[in-house]
Amino acid sequence: MITLDTIRKPVTAELEAYDHFVERQFTAEGELLNEMLRYALSSRGKGIRPLLVMLSAALNAPVKGASTGRRACLAAMLVEMIHVASLIHDDVIDESDTRRGRASVNARWQSHKAVILGDYVLARNLAIGLQSGQFDLVTHICGSMATLCEGEVQQAECADTKAMTRQSYLDIIYKKTACLLGVSASAGALAVGATRDKVALMRRFGEALGMAFQIQDDILDFQPRSHTGKPANNDLREGKITLPLLAVLERVPAERRAELVERLDRCREQDGAVDYLQRVVENEGGLDYAAEVMRGYVTRAAEMLAEYEPSDCRKALVDLCSYIAERDR
Ligand code: FPP
Ligand code: MG
Repeated sequence: MITLDTIRKPVTAELEAYDHFVERQFTAEGELLNEMLRYALSSRGKGIRPLLVMLSAALNAPVKGASTGRRACLAAMLVEMIHVASLIHDDVIDESDTRRGRASVNARWQSHKAVILGDYVLARNLAIGLQSGQFDLVTHICGSMATLCEGEVQQAECADTKAMTRQSYLDIIYKKTACLLGVSASAGALAVGATRDKVALMRRFGEALGMAFQIQDDILDFQPRSHTGKPANNDLREGKITLPLLAVLERVPAERRAELVERLDRCREQDGAVDYLQRVVENEGGLDYAAEVMRGYVTRAAEMLAEYEPSDCRKALVDLCSYIAERDR
């Protein structure tokens, strides 16, 4: 399987510059706030968004090396910190105790402090962006914050009503994940002065990759905890209908559908209901079906890169597509 380390190779210097940039810029006043911030930033996960920014910047740079500049670092920081803040808030909303195999911020310092930390990350992010004077990048990237919130509210609404349709599912995952990946890929191109067409192309590429990324996340949610560092079947416990379950619900007769939805209603309190639905989704092809839809997005994303001449960076982005489809955590 392709590893992220291999994919990072063509932009190792750029990612190092980005790490130093964040270290220098992202500081906090006050001992507790600083401790919480260091904790949140010390486990930044896979770093897909900064990687996407840097690969796209390098792919679209007019001359080799032009992507190591301050604008690409700033773009990578802006997208990653929106992501970091959204996960801190998401764990409060989902009442989740673990993130990436360790205690979530809310589990360690309580929810009220986690909310403030998420706000602080967003506030610092915006302040650093505005102080830089790179208003095109700030405008391009920060619009996605509202979209993320819209997706989160739509998801909560659907979990309450259990009235999920294919269209709402796709709309939600676009807003909560694909939009920010599209913004990341296009921001890399924008940072190095790519044409409007290329910026738009990279946005569509990132969005297709993002749709695949979230569907794979929803598939992995049905896997045991050891793989992902998150509790298994979290979505079922939260009453969320994601593609693997939706695919089953779409295929069964109305009576059976009502029965399965009724079981989902009981998942918050009953492990038995969770196990039952987990088995149904697996045995009735929900996971296989979702994987097929996911691969469709990945293929479309990879095909979009045919517009570019072959290069290390284009290959790394194609590899990133395969990684997203094959990842198990
Ligand atoms: C993880 O989803 C959550 C998101 C991708 C987005 C969350 C967005 C908000 C909480 C809105 C706030 C927005 C900002 C900008 C602060 P998940 O719960 O399906 O995945 P998980 O299993 O990793 O928790
Ligand atoms: Mg969550």
